[in-house]
Amino acid sequence: MRWLEKYKSKIKTAEEAVSLIKSGQRVYVHPGCAMPEILVDKMCERYKELENVEVVHILTVGNSRYVEPEYEGHFRHNALFIGKNVRKAVQEGRADFTPIFLSEIPRLFHRGKLPLDVALIHVSPPDEHGFCSFGVGVECTKPATEVAKTIIAQVNPNMPRTLGDCFIHVDKFTACVEADVPIKELPQVDLDISPQEADVYKKIGEYIANLIEDESTLQLGIGAIPDAVLTFLHGKKNLGLHTEMFSDGVVQLVEEGIITNEKKTLHPGKIISSFVLGTRTLFDFIDDNPRIEFHPSHYVNDPFVIAKNNKMIAINSALQVDLTGQVCADSIGTKFFSGYGGQLDFIRGASRSEGGKPIIALSSTAKNDTISRIATQLAAGAGVTTSRGDVHYVVTEYGVADLYGRCVQERVKALIGIAHPDFREELEEYALKQKFLPVKV
Ligand code: COA
Repeated sequence: MRWLEKYKSKIKTAEEAVSLIKSGQRVYVHPGCAMPEILVDKMCERYKELENVEVVHILTVGNSRYVEPEYEGHFRHNALFIGKNVRKAVQEGRADFTPIFLSEIPRLFHRGKLPLDVALIHVSPPDEHGFCSFGVGVECTKPATEVAKTIIAQVNPNMPRTLGDCFIHVDKFTACVEADVPIKELPQVDLDISPQEADVYKKIGEYIANLIEDESTLQLGIGAIPDAVLTFLHGKKNLGLHTEMFSDGVVQLVEEGIITNEKKTLHPGKIISSFVLGTRTLFDFIDDNPRIEFHPSHYVNDPFVIAKNNKMIAINSALQVDLTGQVCADSIGTKFFSGYGGQLDFIRGASRSEGGKPIIALSSTAKNDTISRIATQLAAGAGVTTSRGDVHYVVTEYGVADLYGRCVQERVKALIGIAHPDFREELEEYALKQKFLPVKV
């Protein structure tokens, strides 16, 4: 096997492999649970020899030493979606943020808008033909490897071999590092929530479940609520998944025969996704599982592809919604918090789908009921993730507001109706003052 000899000749120590990175280069890092920690750590160890290296990625799980103050001048992070481990650095100005839809990131690479020098990736061992799987995430990583001049792979027997458009041939590697280490896990967020929060999620989950008809296809965005919704789907029949990501909750629904994918109008019988965030249970579930196809983000998140799924239900969360229906999910005032991710991709795809329903779900308050997330206005400096022209359903623990095609007066009434009761009067007074409402409701 010719590829095997070539592969063996490319095996290096991690130190040797990352010595290929040069000052001034842009380095892409495989995100999510696939973050190749050994390569990233060794790159960081070289910081004194390196200057002005840009580290670019969407959300990663694990350490991100390169954003710490002592690495300034050596590394600078450019977040295409801000994860927890880089948020402080972005907010303190030690890292950058590029607002971009997940569906568009591969095009940034292919159109030369964000040329990549190096891609640090994490893959399964080669099969008998020399192909490695991108495993727990193919998202923007396969496109990144199509343009990066240097590809350094961490090859790990613990990386699940996922199927679909998610393979890379070892011939494409510049260097590889074999490492038998656990894949980074991200346990579900509901483990440390208070009983009060659990009650809020339960009510939101039940309202959303009522909007989901049997034979619907779901997208589940990032955050506590999309995760929690899965718990309320146990009575449903023949659900499908077409989603940029999913987590552990899906495993049980597949095993119980609730998610069958059989009635999907696109890719029937298959879960279509681009990455997972979860635990080893989930990684074992996706391993060599013909029920699941992983595809890059420019396919999975393309609104026109999404729309080919009838009864497409997009479930995403938000930080604030104003009284006209503008949704902010990426910032708290001027502080960047996360990013667009796939929210608008799926809102638009679900809107165009026959029988589709785009849903934004959020708890009615934040910070122990001191802040209403149904707001008179978005906080100064906040960005609009989903515009008031795109928004359809908004769900809180107080109910469902269907805003699509509704005039401002109807929106205001519907949104006040799902706000926390303690804030309704304040919201109404504002609406009257702004002439959004002619008279008190
Ligand atoms: N004002 C001030 N603080 C607020 C707030 C507001 N209006 N709304 C939320 N917060 C605080 C919360 O109190 C919480 O703080 P804590 O961590 O100190 O408890 C924090 O912000 C996060 O809020 P929470 O609702 O718990 O976030 P989440 O983990 O459920 O995620 C989003 C919600 C919106 C951040 C998440 O869905 C996201 O990043 N979306 C991006 C776009 C998207 O949906 N893409 C699709 C998937 S990629």
